[in-house]
Amino acid sequence: MKAITVLPGTAGSARLDELAEPPESDGPVLVDVLAVGICGTDLEIAGGDYGWAPEGHARLVLGHESIGRVAEAPADSGLAAGDYVVGIVRRPDPVPCYSCAKGEWDFCRNGQYTEHGIKSLDGFMRERYRATADAVVRIDQSLGFLGVLLEPTSIVAKAWEQTELVGNRAAWEPKRAVITGAGPIGLLAALIGVQRGLEVHVIDQMTAGLKPDLVAALGAAYHTGKIEDACDAPDVIIECTGAGMLVFDAMDNLAPGGVLCLTGVSPTGRSLSIDAGMVNRGMVLKNEGVVGSVNANRRHYEAAAEALAKADKDWLAKLLTRKVPAESFASALERQPDDVKVIIEMGNPT
Ligand code: BGC
Repeated sequence: MKAITVLPGTAGSARLDELAEPPESDGPVLVDVLAVGICGTDLEIAGGDYGWAPEGHARLVLGHESIGRVAEAPADSGLAAGDYVVGIVRRPDPVPCYSCAKGEWDFCRNGQYTEHGIKSLDGFMRERYRATADAVVRIDQSLGFLGVLLEPTSIVAKAWEQTELVGNRAAWEPKRAVITGAGPIGLLAALIGVQRGLEVHVIDQMTAGLKPDLVAALGAAYHTGKIEDACDAPDVIIECTGAGMLVFDAMDNLAPGGVLCLTGVSPTGRSLSIDAGMVNRGMVLKNEGVVGSVNANRRHYEAAAEALAKADKDWLAKLLTRKVPAESFASALERQPDDVKVIIEMGNPT
């Protein structure tokens, strides 16, 4: 079968490969992959900056945001041929640590977790994969192909959960949320904020085009300036860019008792000059909560599946701005200015 693989650590090594069928030992559920979304992590892996091949292999199959259809599943698995499913990215560490033992692999304590398409497990940019039934999520079947957005939505479903857990440490009635960044993560975070009934403000650099339209269509407000100009004292800020300065601006602008959730993985090696005393003072005197959030466990995939099932399907479809066949994977791995979510089609999208 065809697959897109990389040599981790080597920039520009992505290629269309021919691989053997997935071994039965990977699990009794056989899934035909329809499409795989590309995110910043994939670009980092393709650029040689991140990623680990499975033990004993030189190359890693790329791709962690997938949508597929079940080809075979055991009768008692709750899955049937034809079902649309999404593979869960992270798997528990082998020890397992106390978080992984409880199914909270997103909080893995020893770093020995594995991730499809990222860390020591082949990804989903291949025609077929096998898995155990508990490693896939059956989505609302009316979503179909749009289920390719489930994995990025699981990331923001977790971010919202973490935000609310921190906010609710005291009486808390959040009204306003700011989302920094109108990429797929920011837009999906805004979707969930609107579904929560909050007044949502999204900040991005693009002055025109699809992003402002997508934000407006949600019933949220779009801004290009600073947080302080967009919204007075937000109760929630979900930071989705990883831009260092925005993180500190966000801390500075939160409402008392507010929560800042950081989801952006920043590039390293850049320094900023900040008044650390001022940052600390603000956080203490305003009871601010700052929480980092990565990855997602099954609970978050399920919350994401609910959020997507409630969303306007035409709006979700507009996020998929570029679909390229597997043979043209190289163009999918190059960012274009109007991209929101780029996907690679691995099979026939029916
Ligand atoms: C994925 C996460 C993963 C993280 C770090 C992200 O792109 O969505 O599931 O944990 O990369 O590897």
